Amino acid sequence: MSAFKQRVFSGVQPSGNLTLGNYLGAIKNWVGLQDSYETIFCVVDLHAITTWQEPEVLRNATREVAAGMIASGVDPKKSIIFNQSQVSAHAELAWIFNCVARMGWLNRMTQFKEKAGKHKERASVGLYVYPDLMAADILTYLATHVPVGADQKQHLELTRDIAQKFNNDYGVNFFPEVEPLIFGAATRVMSLRDGTAKMSKSDPSENSRINLTDDRDSIAKKIRKARTDSEPLPGTLEGLEGRAEAMNLINIFAALSEREAKDICQEYEGKGFAEFKNDLADLSVSVLGPISEEMSRLMGDKSYLDSILREGARNADEIATPILKQAQDIVGLLRP
Ligand code: TYM
Repeated sequence: MSAFKQRVFSGVQPSGNLTLGNYLGAIKNWVGLQDSYETIFCVVDLHAITTWQEPEVLRNATREVAAGMIASGVDPKKSIIFNQSQVSAHAELAWIFNCVARMGWLNRMTQFKEKAGKHKERASVGLYVYPDLMAADILTYLATHVPVGADQKQHLELTRDIAQKFNNDYGVNFFPEVEPLIFGAATRVMSLRDGTAKMSKSDPSENSRINLTDDRDSIAKKIRKARTDSEPLPGTLEGLEGRAEAMNLINIFAALSEREAKDICQEYEGKGFAEFKNDLADLSVSVLGPISEEMSRLMGDKSYLDSILREGARNADEIATPILKQAQDIVGLLRP
C-alpha cells in the first residue's frame, strides 16, 4: 500500500484547437475518474508559450480549453480546473527539476526532436526543458496517476526518473512513482489524411483533424473525406495490419461508441468504406455535436469560465504550495 494519496493530475496545452485526439486520448477518460480519485485538470499555458503564441489568441485558447473540458463532462464541482500560470509552484518546482534532470535525459525526448525539427538551435530553451515543467505540474500535487494519450508516455517516464533521482539525491521518499493511465480504444488517434501521422492541432491541413469546435456539418464532411484504401473492411483486427487509415477509423468508431474494435470489425466485415464512413459520421456528430455546442455556449460566458479558473487556481494553490515548500526545505533553500 502506497503512502501517497490517490490523486490524478493531467493537462492540455492551449495552443490551437482541441482535437478529437485530445478528447479520445485524454479528456474523455478524465470524466470517469472523477468519482474514484481526487482529480486536478490544468490548462498548461506555460507549456504553450514554449512555441510562439499571440497573446490575445492564447487568452482565448486558455478559456476554450477550459470550456472543452467542462463541455466534455469534467465537472468543476468534482474536479479542480485551472490554468497553470496562476499557480506559481509549477514554475518554481520546475526550476528545481531543471537542476535534477540531466541533459542526456532531455536529449532523448522524441517530442522535442519532432517539435524543434532541423533547427534545434533556434528552438526556445523552454521547449527543451518542457518535460521538467511537466514533471513539476504532476509532482507539485504529489499526484499518483496521470491519464494521457500514448504520445506522453516518454514524458511520464522522465517524471519518474526525476522523482527517483530527487528522492535518492536527498535521501527521502518524498515524490511518488507516477503511474501513467493510457487507456481506451484510441490512445493514439491518427490524422484523417495520413494514418501514419498523429492527429495534431498543429497540422496545417484542417481536414487532417476534427476540432472539438467543429459544427455538425464539418464533422460529417471531414469523416466522409477521410483517407482510406480501396479494400473492403476486414472481419478481424489482424486484417487491419498494414492498413493504418482503416485501423484509425475503426479505433475512433470503437472509442466513440465505447465498444471493442474487434466487434466493429465483425459488424462491418466485407462492407465498403462509404457505408462505414456514413455510420461513423453519424456517430461522431451525435457524440461531438453536443460538446461543440456546449463549448460555444460556455465561450459566450467568459465571466463564468474565469470564475471557474480563478476558484480552481485557489484550490490548486492550497495543495501545491505546501508541497513546494517541503521540497524547498529538502533541497536546503532557506526560508527563515
Ligand atoms: P497536449 O496538449 O499535446 O495533449 C493533451 C492530451 O491529449 C493527448 N493527445 C492525444 N491522444 C491520442 N491521440 C492523439 N492524436 C492525441 N493528441 C494529443 C495527449 O497525450 C495529452 O494527454 N505535455 C502535455 C501536456 C501536459 C501534461 C502535464 C499532461 C503538461 N503537463 C502534466 C499530463 C500531466 C501535452 O503537450 O499535451
